This record gives sequence, C-alpha cells and structure tokens, in this order.
Amino acid sequence: MGTGLIGILTAGGDCPGLNAGIRAVGKAAHRSGMQVIGFLDGFRGLVENRTVRLDDAALSGILATGGTILGTSRDKPHKIPVPNVGTLDMRPMAVENYNGNHLDCLVCLGGDGTMKNAYRLSKEGLNIIALPKTIDNDVPCTDTTFGFDTAMGIAAEAIDRLHTTADSHHRVIIVEIMGHTAGWLALGAGLAGGADVILLPEIPYDIDKVTEAILNRERRGKRFSIVAVAEGALPLTADEGSPDDGDAENDGSDGDGDEDDSILPTRTALLAQALQRRTGIDARFTALGHLQRGGTPSAADRLLATRLGTTCIDYVEQGMENVMVAVDGDGCKAVSLKKVAGRRKLLPLDHPWIDAARRLGIALGD
Ligand code: F6P
Repeated sequence: MGTGLIGILTAGGDCPGLNAGIRAVGKAAHRSGMQVIGFLDGFRGLVENRTVRLDDAALSGILATGGTILGTSRDKPHKIPVPNVGTLDMRPMAVENYNGNHLDCLVCLGGDGTMKNAYRLSKEGLNIIALPKTIDNDVPCTDTTFGFDTAMGIAAEAIDRLHTTADSHHRVIIVEIMGHTAGWLALGAGLAGGADVILLPEIPYDIDKVTEAILNRERRGKRFSIVAVAEGALPLTADEGSPDDGDAENDGSDGDGDEDDSILPTRTALLAQALQRRTGIDARFTALGHLQRGGTPSAADRLLATRLGTTCIDYVEQGMENVMVAVDGDGCKAVSLKKVAGRRKLLPLDHPWIDAARRLGIALGD
C-alpha cells in the first residue's frame, strides 16, 4: 500500500496541452483519493526540491491555457549546469527528494529527452510514468503526442496568411517550421496550408530541384511560391550555391534530446537568399519559431492530454511502473520507458502524408 502521494513535472520545450495534462492527472488523482505535488521547472525543481501543492484550486481554470503552470527547463538530472562549476550529476538529489516526499510515483510530461531522463531516474529506483508531449510528434511507440495538433494548426494558418502576401507581391516566401530531426510538423502544416515545396530533415534536398520547382510554377503562370522548410532540412551536398556550410552545430542539438536551440542565423535564411539568387524572383524569409509552441491548445490536444492524464492515474492504481502512456488509436497502452528512451520517431519515407504530397505535385527536393 503506497502513500497516495504522486509528484508531477513538465520538462523539455513547452507545448500547448501541458496544463490540460496536469489538470487531468491532478483531478483524476484526487477522485481516486491521492494527493499531488508539482515540481517546478522540470527536473531542476526535482533536484532542488522546489514543490507546489496541486489541490483543486490550483487545477482550476487551466484547461485552455498555454505553457505550463509548473514551468519547464531542459535540465537533465545527470548534467545540471551549476554556475562557476560546470555540470553536476544530481541524480542522488532527485532520489533523495523523491523518497523524502514519500512519492508513490513521479509523472513526467515530456518529449524524447524527457523519456531518456525519466528512464535514467527509473534505474536509480524512482517509479516514473511519462506522458508524451511535443509539437514535433517524434516520440516513439505512440501514435502521436499532445501539442502537435495545435502547432500544426498555427503553422498551417501562417502558411495561409503568407499565401496572400506572396501572391500580391509575386514573391517566393520561405517559411521555417520547427523540427530539427523530424519533419512531421513541416509536412503536416505544409500539406494543410498548400505549400508548393516542402523540405524535411528525412529527405535531403537538391537545391537545383527546388529552384526548378519554383521556376516551373512561374512558367505555368504562377507568380508566387511557398516553400515550407523544417528547421533540420539539409541539402544533399554542401556544394556551390547551396545554403549549407556544413555547420552541424547550428542545429542546437547535443544528441541528448530536448536540447538547447541556437540563436544563430538558420540555414533556412541562407536558403532563402540562395533561392532568390537562383530563381531571380524576389524572396522573403519567415521563421515561425516559438509562435508554434505558445498559446491556447486546440480541442484535439486538450482531449488527448486529458485522455493520457486520466489513463496515467489508472496505471498508478494498477501498480504499473516505469512506463509511458502511449496513444494507441482511440485508446492508450503502456510502453516501457526502456523501450522508448533514446529513440526518435522520424517520418517513414513511405508514409501516406509523403505519398499524398507527391501525388499533388508538391516538390520535396529529391
Ligand atoms: O522540441 C521541440 C522544439 O520545439 C523543436 O522543434 C525546436 O527546434 C526546439 O524545440 C526549440 O526549443 P527551444 O528554443 O525552446 O530550446
């Protein structure tokens, strides 16, 4: 018989639907006679034992709000930055605070990096149940993640708006969409928004083919083009005329998931310059950036986060340990953290969305 106390934290980049998930976990826990405490600012709050009690009042009025009431960070418990020291392995503090708070379970809402950190802590003796969230939709072993639907809607609306101005000025507009390693968001939004070219991390692009696709449109009397580019899309070769200088550090990735992003000029901005030079058509560059992560969640994301949060409490009651609550059609299934940790779900090249794009004549740069 446990203590009936569970902890919860949100880690990695924020996304719409986190508060809906916290609310669902909290409300379902209360109805099952459990109490909930939140750790502030991701795993950093766990190692520093900064907590807040999540009673009914704290959970009220947050369903439709963006961000996370708990705050978040990209800190990893085994590598916490400490000023003037470097990084410290603070897993022992995480264990101490988990035990000191007499938790039955720690619920972690996060993406691929969070799954990895959760798995690391589970090996230290913590019982963790994780919920998959990210606008990137790249967590493995789950049909989807909450946050993705909202971000796709925002990016698709942005593409709609870029159409009218591109059309009026007869320009090529290059729009950068989040996604360093996975192209789900760029492809989904690009298809939904009617982009003419979509460039994805999974399909290295040939800049000659992108140039040709734009010039072909011009020959057909289309005086504008929309090029939707995932942050992590790369050219086939970093040769002359290619925007890429091969600077892999520009992607902000340390290969450990939930990584810090860079504020350096992006490859996409350079691609825009290259396309203007090559096509002779006036080009403009827009990065949607963190607009895609902010603000109110869509109804679909609220519903998904609610389903995952309530199922999480079912799993706690069933005594399940160290699993992710995965989306499985209309239901959920438990997948061991070990299986999820350290992997990312990329777009399969035979995915129906890629097939649909090709059948519409959208250029993918290959
Ligand atoms: O992991 C989600 C994500 O939105 C990526 O698509 C993006 O590259 C990254 O986070 C940027 O995160 P931040 O600027 O918060 O470090």
